[in-house]
Amino acid sequence: MNKKDFQVFEKNDVVYLDSAATTQRPKVVVEALVDAYVNRNANAHRAGYELSIKATEGMEEAREKFAKFVGARKEEIIFAKNTTEILNNLARSIPINLEDDVLVTDMEHHSNFVPWQQEAKQVGATFRSVPLNPKTYELDFNIDLIKSNTKVFSFTGMSNVSGYMPNIKEIVRQIREKNPNTIIILDACQLAPHKIVDVKELDVDFMAFSVHKLYGPFGVGVMYGKYELLEKLEPFLYGGSMIGKVSLEVTTWADIPHRFEAGTMDSSSIMTCVAAIDYLNKLSIEKIEENETKLLELAKQKLNEIEGVHIIGHQDENNYGPLLSFYVDGVDADDIATMLGSKGICVRSGKHCAEPFLNAIGVQGTVRLSFGIYNDESDVEKFISALNAALKLLR
Ligand code: ALA
Repeated sequence: MNKKDFQVFEKNDVVYLDSAATTQRPKVVVEALVDAYVNRNANAHRAGYELSIKATEGMEEAREKFAKFVGARKEEIIFAKNTTEILNNLARSIPINLEDDVLVTDMEHHSNFVPWQQEAKQVGATFRSVPLNPKTYELDFNIDLIKSNTKVFSFTGMSNVSGYMPNIKEIVRQIREKNPNTIIILDACQLAPHKIVDVKELDVDFMAFSVHKLYGPFGVGVMYGKYELLEKLEPFLYGGSMIGKVSLEVTTWADIPHRFEAGTMDSSSIMTCVAAIDYLNKLSIEKIEENETKLLELAKQKLNEIEGVHIIGHQDENNYGPLLSFYVDGVDADDIATMLGSKGICVRSGKHCAEPFLNAIGVQGTVRLSFGIYNDESDVEKFISALNAALKLLR
């Protein structure tokens, strides 16, 4: 579809089906990163000379783009390194006490499971996880799981193992009705590259995603936080550029969002995000979705024709993003991925940093394919033919 925009495919003979791990970058993004280093390189927010002003402007332009991208106010967008860092920051900064209850789901990536588990453990709070339906492998969310003391519910908008997308809006609505004090956090790092995510419509309190999964550079995570909650949140780190005044007796904080961005930020990568968002907007998320859904359907149909292949979930396609995991009776998932890799087919295998999910469904490991804007039907055909060849040797 848009392969020609990506130089990686001119220089490497690969079928890239691992966009859930990280996406490839279009030429415009690579050029923007070079431009950031060549023409706009200085420490942002710290000086009045031209290069520094350009760095500051670039960073703030990116903040504005992301605010628009998710339907937030500019001040509600905080930059960090990645989704993992944001979720760890939130787990440490939201005050959680002994009597509190913290809820995640069995569908979470470790980055949205372990930080909450460890924080709860440290303060003696209760830590629980929403189970999966044993037949569909989808989330068995039930409002009874939300208690009067549930302080935090943090959940993924799209599983990185199965592609399952819970009904976020409905879950949030039910929680608000039952316990308006529960802080609702959405891990959108798999969802944001494929669907329009409007924070006001979804009514989540915090949200996180990583730009390297959105055709942008590595090293930039985007956090959304409701302004009134950001006002109550402790800074994540102390240091330069996040302070108001400092004296021996007292330190005050800079305005939001800067109080949450201590130290020198990767302004070059952050300003490069503008090119990624512009590129995506030009293609339109709706068109991307249409193509990716078509490829998902094709892959599913072809995989179902192969004996011994089991796809995780995907009974009701409406609830799934363009990502699919499968295992094959009697064949190790890592062996399949290694053989595919030797033929230039890039897929991920194993537990996908989501052991609670794999444990819940009793599967050792899966092979995962995840689609991006550059994939087309020929990628699926090549993948299926390489898979058939690998299985012939492995079985
Ligand atoms: N979270 C990324 C994945 O699922 C790395 O592959």
